[in-house]
Amino acid sequence: MTTASSGGTPLAAPVGRETFSSRKLFILSAIGSAVGLGNIWRFPYIAYENGGGAFLIPYLAALLSAGIPLLFLDYAIGHKFRGSAPLAYRRMHRGAEVLGWWQVLVCFIIAIYYAVIIAWAAMYTWFSVTQAWGDDPGSFFTGEFLGVSETVNVGFNFVPGVFWPLLITWIAVIGIMVAGVRKGISRANGFFLPLLVVMFVLLVAQSLFLPGAIDGLNAFFTPDWAALGDPGVWAAAYGHIFFSLSVAFGIMVTYSSYLKRKTDLTGSGMVVAFSNSAFEILAGIGVFAALGFMAFTAGSAVGDVAVPGIGLAFIAFPTIVSEAPLGGLMGVLFFGSLVFAGITSLISILEVIVAAVQDKMGWPRVKASLAVSIPVAFISLLLFPTATGLYLLDTFDAFVNSFGILAGALVAVILVAWVLRKLPMLSDHLNKVSSVRMRTVWIGLVAVVAPVVLGYILINEFISKIGTTYEDYPAWFVGVFGWGMAAALVVVAVVLTLIPWSPKSKLHHDPEYAALIAAEEKEEGR
Ligand code: ALA
Repeated sequence: MTTASSGGTPLAAPVGRETFSSRKLFILSAIGSAVGLGNIWRFPYIAYENGGGAFLIPYLAALLSAGIPLLFLDYAIGHKFRGSAPLAYRRMHRGAEVLGWWQVLVCFIIAIYYAVIIAWAAMYTWFSVTQAWGDDPGSFFTGEFLGVSETVNVGFNFVPGVFWPLLITWIAVIGIMVAGVRKGISRANGFFLPLLVVMFVLLVAQSLFLPGAIDGLNAFFTPDWAALGDPGVWAAAYGHIFFSLSVAFGIMVTYSSYLKRKTDLTGSGMVVAFSNSAFEILAGIGVFAALGFMAFTAGSAVGDVAVPGIGLAFIAFPTIVSEAPLGGLMGVLFFGSLVFAGITSLISILEVIVAAVQDKMGWPRVKASLAVSIPVAFISLLLFPTATGLYLLDTFDAFVNSFGILAGALVAVILVAWVLRKLPMLSDHLNKVSSVRMRTVWIGLVAVVAPVVLGYILINEFISKIGTTYEDYPAWFVGVFGWGMAAALVVVAVVLTLIPWSPKSKLHHDPEYAALIAAEEKEEGR
């Protein structure tokens, strides 16, 4: 851990806030966070479910009108107030702390199931070599591999084939968390991200040479103008972009709090956002080319060839691996990429929780990392490698995205833009340190476009989810683990806000931040 005194600040605390050692490492880590299961596992199936070609235009609109503006908002808050989500919001305004805790809890829910998908992918990397799924990858995935129970319930009949890789995933991730921002997060990203890029480029190149690939690409790139009139397609695009960019659930607030004072925020943000989308579109190309091949061998249309939903990666891809020339290699590249992309994102999700606890309690890094990661890992290991884990994962994922991330984003923009009226100040902050300067357009997008779009999507989501029982799961199950979980996040966030900050916490004891504020005030002649 670096000490602030080694940075030469005379007023620094004995243990200062860690920083990324360079902008390059920050950008690498932010891309590592953004590029994750969302890009490789979720984007292709969301695009597939929403008509393939119909999806790209709303996706790009969502990126430019909401994704990037909110990414800048997160950067501005984290960098200006130099804290984890609860501390940064608290420094903005006393009453805003609860929003920070809400974001922390969203990360808690995502972390416990995100690790499970990494564990599946790790196993599937191996299965690509052994082709363990045989002739029927669909039945293998839900049957032999996950042992999914017929009844939707919560049970604790463990599935060892998922438990052990999940345990190993958690041990690896906890090791990274304990090592801290420079020795853990930066290094892990510096290693995994380049590896991921190489593997993924090879995978996409390989899939482009498959027979039928061109039909898949046509399905992906041909705009379906009629579908653009479907509000559901737009909602899916906006709903996806926040998860994919790691925006509005504390990650970018936390990461940007580790940036040095004079860092180009918007320039870095552009690099991160476009790299993330490039990766996502690359994933779309790879997966759709492979689906084109699948359609070619099955003699059917690309749109009919795969089961949409969370199984796309784990059911459709193995089918392709079994049939394609050098399929085993393709599987290793695909599922291996999923593991590496997942790990670099999972550490950023956990960092939101670790940093929050560290700031509030004033604990050292190792203590905070262990105090957070071990219970999170324990809950993940208890709930998901079970016969009912898939139902829980699916419900958590669907509800936390809508009523955690999107609802949190809506509350954040209304609070910051309209209640606290902090956008001009945050825009000044961005402009002071950044290369790409913006004010009116950015404020307009954050204050007007984002709330309108998010409000519309959420109302639709609410109506559609309340009107039918999600996935035909029993009402009590959706009530407890969908609606109940989403409501509990808000209640627990209030409780965590009410817990007093430790006298050793960053709120009461942060000479570095005090020195920064004093310097800024002096600069502004106040
Ligand atoms: N941004 C991360 C992902 O896409 C969470 O998976």
